[in-house]
Amino acid sequence: MCGIVGYIGKNKIKEVLLEGLGELEYRGYDSAGIAILQEDNFSIFKAVGKLENLRNKTKDFHPEGFSIGIGHTRWATHGKPTELNAHPHVGENSYVVHNGIIENYQELKQRLQAEGFNFLSQTDTEVIVHLFESHLKALKEPLKAFRATLDELEGAYAVLLITKSAPDTIFFAKHGSPMLIGIGGDEKHFASSDTPLIGLCTDVIYLHDGENGYLSADAVELFNESYEKIDPVLKPLPSSKLSAQKDGFRFFMEKEIYEQSQVITDTLMGRLGEAEINFEELDSELFVGINEIKLCACGTSYHSALAASYLFERYSKIRCSVEIASEFRYKQPLMTQDTLFVVISQSGETADTLETLKMAKKAGLKSLVICNVDNSSMVREADASILTRAGIEKGVASTKAFATQMVVFWMLSLYLAKQRASMTSVEIAEHISLLREVPSTVVVKDELHEKLRRLSKRYLHGHGFFFIGRDVFYPLALEGALKLKEISYLHAEGYPSGEMKHGPIALADPELFTIALMPTNLLYEKTKSNVEELSARDSTICAISAREFDKADDFIQIQERSHYMHEFFEMMVVLQILSLEISVRLGNDVDMPRNLAKSVTVE
Ligand code: AGP
Repeated sequence: MCGIVGYIGKNKIKEVLLEGLGELEYRGYDSAGIAILQEDNFSIFKAVGKLENLRNKTKDFHPEGFSIGIGHTRWATHGKPTELNAHPHVGENSYVVHNGIIENYQELKQRLQAEGFNFLSQTDTEVIVHLFESHLKALKEPLKAFRATLDELEGAYAVLLITKSAPDTIFFAKHGSPMLIGIGGDEKHFASSDTPLIGLCTDVIYLHDGENGYLSADAVELFNESYEKIDPVLKPLPSSKLSAQKDGFRFFMEKEIYEQSQVITDTLMGRLGEAEINFEELDSELFVGINEIKLCACGTSYHSALAASYLFERYSKIRCSVEIASEFRYKQPLMTQDTLFVVISQSGETADTLETLKMAKKAGLKSLVICNVDNSSMVREADASILTRAGIEKGVASTKAFATQMVVFWMLSLYLAKQRASMTSVEIAEHISLLREVPSTVVVKDELHEKLRRLSKRYLHGHGFFFIGRDVFYPLALEGALKLKEISYLHAEGYPSGEMKHGPIALADPELFTIALMPTNLLYEKTKSNVEELSARDSTICAISAREFDKADDFIQIQERSHYMHEFFEMMVVLQILSLEISVRLGNDVDMPRNLAKSVTVE
């Protein structure tokens, strides 16, 4: 969580920092701040709330000439979203920005307070700057003081520090939170992801955990955890930012829903053979000796994993278990080496998921990541990776990442089915034909969007929503409910249809909204009976199906299809748009819903 930027150069530093923060605002937007050092003078600005407030505060500030600066957009962990808690945090002569959590900050704070340091904020971050200044007093040299500071920090961090004692230098360290360095001519940048650097830099250095060092006008000095000098590895940065714009849609989420057909085409590209799936990135050795797949993820990625578990058992005939990463970390799990450990993540940075990957690796398991961000921490950590190719996803509510994860999983289940001979070539070829049609199932038709827009006005109240479905439509129901609660702030739950009568049906009344997923190609009659039970108890029913259903109060008709997975993808779009339109009617910020952040890099 949180986004950090840094800059050294002669060009419009304020604009560079603010634009960089704009690209990272999805990571947190409780408050933001920048600190700029020119010769011996610091200029510091902070504002609570969205970045716009910081832009307004700095509109009469026009620094010129060589300067260094750092910036931060915050998602609060320790301390409320106030100006005092906003980064950069100040010492006597230094400023720091930080992404992550300093776990031992309480004990460090007590010690520093006893030494006479005065704390202004409730954050864990502030200890870093005082600790640095405490060491600087004793050691006299800023680099030594910075290293002594790092030696005392426990937890996860990406840190940038500037100080009057080295006025042309930015000190940095990465340990568990993302950060990279960008080089563009004689300008140098830092950012939490590569997006802010596109157009400004030609090359980037992806920092690894434990790496640290400093940047000045004419030096890039990089060290490993033991402070031994290492050579930076420069990688070229793509030059197009176009895909990150809104393209005329009202919200990034809306644009991303409409993009799904295109990105799924990209996901499929080069991977569909006649009767086999090609994953060039996978070594077939990966599956040798594997008897179980364990899928581990958070949020939406967890929902795609849950849906995938049905496909792996059904098509690949391999045992498959699914874990919520934050639970798995601490359950002292049994990990046997005949298990392939698969993590799923849009960002590749989610702290809980990343930690489970490290645990599995430590236990000697083979690992695979299904991820949307190349070069992300998980991609670098896992033995193998499959990229989902969804492009940059900016809406906090994940849409196209989920869609592409599902397509990858469907393909992977067939890839394994071939290896394990659990399906015939003819069956696999049939599925490949079905896969080719997926992009057309998610094209948003104007009439459908308009219908959902009108319908949304009837779902702005009530005491709760139950999204129900069976089989893969149960994880889809979970995902529908998550989408709705994230951006509408209405209470919604996903439930297996057949489980309602074991408790939740007690809630049924006209103010309980049931969103029923009723595919005609999978357990239709079973699901129908469950929905009828709810209808008989007066719950308001909104049914989504290709087949008319007379007990529905509202009915959203999808196309008659020949396979349940096509129904799955079409219903997915219906659920995404329904949530979007409910959120719009409620006047919420669709792309930046309250209390959330796009990338959750704290546990
Ligand atoms: C999705 O709409 C959410 N905002 C969230 O649940 C997300 O899926 C989760 O935090 C996991 O993120 P990841 O896929 O980047 O690991």
